[in-house]
Amino acid sequence: MPTSARRPSSLLKRSLATVAAVALASSLAACGGGSLSSTGSSGSTDSVKIGLVVPASGVYEPLGIDMTRGFELYLDEHNGELGGKKVEVVKADEGEGPETGVPATTKVITQDKVQVVVGIVNSATALGVKDTLTRSKVPLVVANAGADQLTDGSAYLWRTSFTNGGVGETLGADVAGEVSGPVYLMASDYAAGRESVAGFKKSFEAAGGKVAGETYTPFGTTSDYQPYLTKAQNSKAAAVYVFYAGAEAVNFVKQYSSFGMKDVPLYAAGFLTEGGVLEAQGAAALGIKTALHYSNLIDTPENKNFVAAYTKAYDAAPTVYAVQAYDAAAALDAALEKLDSVNGESIAEALGDIGEIASPRGPWSFDEKHNPDQPYFLREVKDVGGTLGNAVLSQLNE
Ligand code: BEZ
Repeated sequence: MPTSARRPSSLLKRSLATVAAVALASSLAACGGGSLSSTGSSGSTDSVKIGLVVPASGVYEPLGIDMTRGFELYLDEHNGELGGKKVEVVKADEGEGPETGVPATTKVITQDKVQVVVGIVNSATALGVKDTLTRSKVPLVVANAGADQLTDGSAYLWRTSFTNGGVGETLGADVAGEVSGPVYLMASDYAAGRESVAGFKKSFEAAGGKVAGETYTPFGTTSDYQPYLTKAQNSKAAAVYVFYAGAEAVNFVKQYSSFGMKDVPLYAAGFLTEGGVLEAQGAAALGIKTALHYSNLIDTPENKNFVAAYTKAYDAAPTVYAVQAYDAAAALDAALEKLDSVNGESIAEALGDIGEIASPRGPWSFDEKHNPDQPYFLREVKDVGGTLGNAVLSQLNE
């Protein structure tokens, strides 16, 4: 899925559209909580309406497909119910960024009157909808976006995924111990990429690692990474750390290899080699080491059962994105189980009381900032029985 370069004029239009979308959502919210409130205070008793907002277009479309599958698998396994309540799902396309994701989220709240929103891949989109959700008292169970500050303080923001800085930070010390020489840092130029690099740098430098330089590539519009790879090559770095996901990850890994960098060890947040992108990258991905809170090769009964069920349902192996959405459904299942009266406020409150989720990734629970307290794994792309996979080398945060 190569991304095509966009001209500066369309870039400008995109950022103006983003500003307009965020401003529209804020002014709708400012018009009074009433206009955005999705439920009466009494709430429903035997059903729940959920907005599933994930990308159905743009560079992160494959992630959206996996998340929808993970969420629907959980529902199928539970007779279409969560916490004994019949589920109605309203889907909306998050698209690539806030210019589409903010209006899509606002629409499911104001028009469809959902009681809870699940999904959101892009950090910038999540940050763009955060205040609207809080003001409208509709909880968001973030099933991907990793923006570090997203869940700070709001009772309505919960996350079953990760923080961008957290994923990078788990890897830094290992790389400092493994690589003798400076490391070059590269990422997609938006919240997720910058936070991922900052998290990595924090633990890498604390463990004595030296940074050779860093560069950021325009998000969603970069199809040619060579000018940036030239900088990395000229820095004489002994290794490179990156953040890319979705279609960007495919282009980057292929070009890293064809540019003659294959002998320079590549480390990354695990999204770089996760799921369908790995198949598209092919042999160019062999040897890449990443940190992530999931691999479909985790050797536990919980994961093996999940992989078997998912593969049977979709004829494809599951990804971290599918697990995050599957677990969003599991978290809501546990929360709704506690409720007689279902509305945004009661769901948000109940999410604070669900305890541990037995997930394919391993057990996790919400921490005090509403993020998962979970295991992280060091993975390496290997040929596993004739198929490329993210082999688990160790647990990073034991
Ligand atoms: C993010 O925007 O936070 C993100 C997107 C894709 C993969 C990981 C993080």
